[in-house]
Amino acid sequence: MSPALMTAMQQGLQSCETCGLLSHPAPGAHEGRCPRCAEELEKLILAEGPETIAAMWAEPIMGAGGVILPPAGYYPKIQAVLRKYDILFVCDEVQTGLGRTGTFLALEHWGLEPDLICLAKALSGGLVPIGAVLASRAVMDSVFDGMERAVRHGSTFGGNDLAAAVALATLRVLDREELVGRAERMGALLLELTTPTLTPAIRTGDLLWISTAVANTAFKR
Ligand SMILES: Cc1ncc(COP(=O)(O)O)c(C=O)c1O
Repeated sequence: MSPALMTAMQQGLQSCETCGLLSHPAPGAHEGRCPRCAEELEKLILAEGPETIAAMWAEPIMGAGGVILPPAGYYPKIQAVLRKYDILFVCDEVQTGLGRTGTFLALEHWGLEPDLICLAKALSGGLVPIGAVLASRAVMDSVFDGMERAVRHGSTFGGNDLAAAVALATLRVLDREELVGRAERMGALLLELTTPTLTPAIRTGDLLWISTAVANTAFKR
């Protein structure tokens, strides 16, 4: 990381009141403040120089960092800033994708259209190692528009038959058993049953990490 970027992050992003590191805002607490957050990103981009930035990576709902649910307006505004400066938006859906938040991809909650999407984990039901990158036509064309560049982006185990077959089977199960809709319904039910007792501890939508013990108790009722 360049010194300029490090300084910008220290002075800019970490001091951003809207999404300060490790903050756990109550639902709605930050609504209406997203423009400021997007301004912080824009300041960082300008400090670093837009021409030096290829892409921004983000999880729609940050997982390991604390299951941080963004305010409704956050990502649309961030996406607009990135588009303004022609910076690619990469959505990491490794944890949130494939139905886990009640939509096939979490980005659907905010109508986002990233340039690239990363998938893994649930793509094989955890059975075999596989990851996938979904790319817009423009990105695909810029990488695979000729043999010379296409070869540079190959990998030894890319397109592995076994992993691909397992992933396709997983997608068929998701579809056949309508698991995305089920996750949405179960999520709503879980919230309804647990909110009265757990309101101070959980935030709307933060269902990824609710313990199975709590879930089992709730579903038995
Ligand atoms: C959000 C997120 N992105 C990417 C990765 C890396 O995925 P993989 O281990 O399949 O390469 C992980 C792994 O835990 C993850 O949680």
